Amino acid sequence: MRRFPDEFIWGAATASYQIEGAVHEDGRGPSIWDVFSHTPGKVVDGHTGDVACDHYHRYREDVAIMADLGLQAYRFSVAWPRVQPGGSGPANPAGLDFYDRLVDELLARGIAPIATLYHWDLPAELDWRDRATADRFAEYAALVYGRLGDRVGTWTTLNEPWVSAFVGYGSGRHAPGIADPAAAFTAAHHLLRAHALGVRALRAGGAREVSLTLNLSPMIGDPSVTTLIDGLANRLFLDPALRGGYPEDVLAHIAKFTDLDEPLFEPIDLLGINYYTVNRLAADPASPGHLEYPGSEGIAWLPPHGEPTEMGWEVIPSGLYDLLMRLTRDYPGTPLMITENGCAYPDTIQNGQVPDPARIAYLEGHFQAAHQAITDGAPLRGYLVWSLLDNFEWARGYHKRFGLIHVGYDSLERLPKSSAHWYREVIARNGLASN
Ligand code: FCB
Repeated sequence: MRRFPDEFIWGAATASYQIEGAVHEDGRGPSIWDVFSHTPGKVVDGHTGDVACDHYHRYREDVAIMADLGLQAYRFSVAWPRVQPGGSGPANPAGLDFYDRLVDELLARGIAPIATLYHWDLPAELDWRDRATADRFAEYAALVYGRLGDRVGTWTTLNEPWVSAFVGYGSGRHAPGIADPAAAFTAAHHLLRAHALGVRALRAGGAREVSLTLNLSPMIGDPSVTTLIDGLANRLFLDPALRGGYPEDVLAHIAKFTDLDEPLFEPIDLLGINYYTVNRLAADPASPGHLEYPGSEGIAWLPPHGEPTEMGWEVIPSGLYDLLMRLTRDYPGTPLMITENGCAYPDTIQNGQVPDPARIAYLEGHFQAAHQAITDGAPLRGYLVWSLLDNFEWARGYHKRFGLIHVGYDSLERLPKSSAHWYREVIARNGLASN
C-alpha cells in the first residue's frame, strides 16, 4: 500500500479545442486550429474539432461523471476565440458565460477548477511571430480573470509553449503549420513574454495561485548530445520561467538562427508538468536532426525500448521519477503538479465495457514513480490524468484514445473504461493497493 499525502490532489485534464465542439456558437471566432484542421492533409482523415465530444453542450453530464469518479480537481482550458473573437477588443459575454456555468457546476460538485488560459487555440487573426500577441494575451487574461477570478483558485497561463513554438512553427505539424526555425525561436520568446505578462495581469486582478505548464522530457544518452536537446526542450522554458534568463549555452545556439532580447520574468507559485516519455539520443553524423529541435543535425532519436503506447511513445515511469527529482534539485522552491500524464491505446467496447489493462498498468507505474519522488523530497502537490475523455488528438485526429472515459464519436455516448473505475479506487484510498 502506498498512501499519498493527505492534501494531495487527484484530477483529470482536458483542453477546449479537443473536447468542446460548438465552434460557431455564441459568437466564437475561428482559431488557428479551425483553419488548420480544415486544411486538407493537415489532420489524419480530415478530422476537425467542429463537434469533438460536444462538451460545450454536455458539460453537465461530464461534470457528473467527474463527481462520480471522485475527482478533486479538473483542469480545463478556456478558448480565447470564444472569449475574445478576433483576439482583441472587448469580451464576448456569451463566450465567458460557458466557462461561468462550467465553473459553477464544478464547484457545486466539490471539484476545484484549474483554468488554463491558452491550450493552443489562438484566435486565427493572431500569430506568435508577432510580439504584440503577448500584449493581446495579457488583455485576454485580464478579461477571463475578471469573470472567473472570484471562483477559480489556480490559473495556468500557457500549456506547453514548446509545442506551440516548435511544432507550430518549427516542423509545422501543428497549427499554424509554419516550418521555419527562426520563427520557432521567435514564437517561443513571445510565448514566454505572454506568460510573464499574463502572470502580471492575473496578479493585478488578485489571483492566488498562478502557474505555467511545460512538457518536460528527460534525455537519455551521452551528454555530448543530450545537453543541447535538453536545452532546447526543457531549459529554454524552465530557466526564463523559474530563474529569469535564458541559459547561456541555449542562447548561444539560438544566435545561429535569430537574436532574442532578455526574457521577461515573473515568479510563479506552481509548475505544471506534462510528462509522457523520454528522448533516447545518440550521436550520428548522418542524421539530418529533427525540425522541432533546430540545429540538431548529427543527433539521432533512437527507437523506444519495450512495447510503446499507440502514440509510439516509450512507457518509462522512471523518467517521471528522474524528472521530478531533477526539478527538485535544479529549480528548488517551486511546488510541482503533474498536469498531464496518460496514454493512448486502441480501446474498444466489449459487452458494454471498455477493458484497458494497459492504461491501468501505465498509470499505476507512474503513480508509483510519483509516490517515490514525494518520499524522496519532491514537492509534488497533485496529479491530473490526461485525459478525462477520448478527444481530438490534434494532428492525429480522433484515432488516439487517451480518455479514462470512452467517447463514441457517432453517438457521443460516454462510457467509463476499466481504468476510470480503477482510478476511482485510487482516489478513494488516496493511494495504491500495490507497493
Ligand atoms: C500534450 C497536450 C495534450 C494532449 C497530450 C497527449 O502534448 O498538451 O493536449 O494532446 O499531449
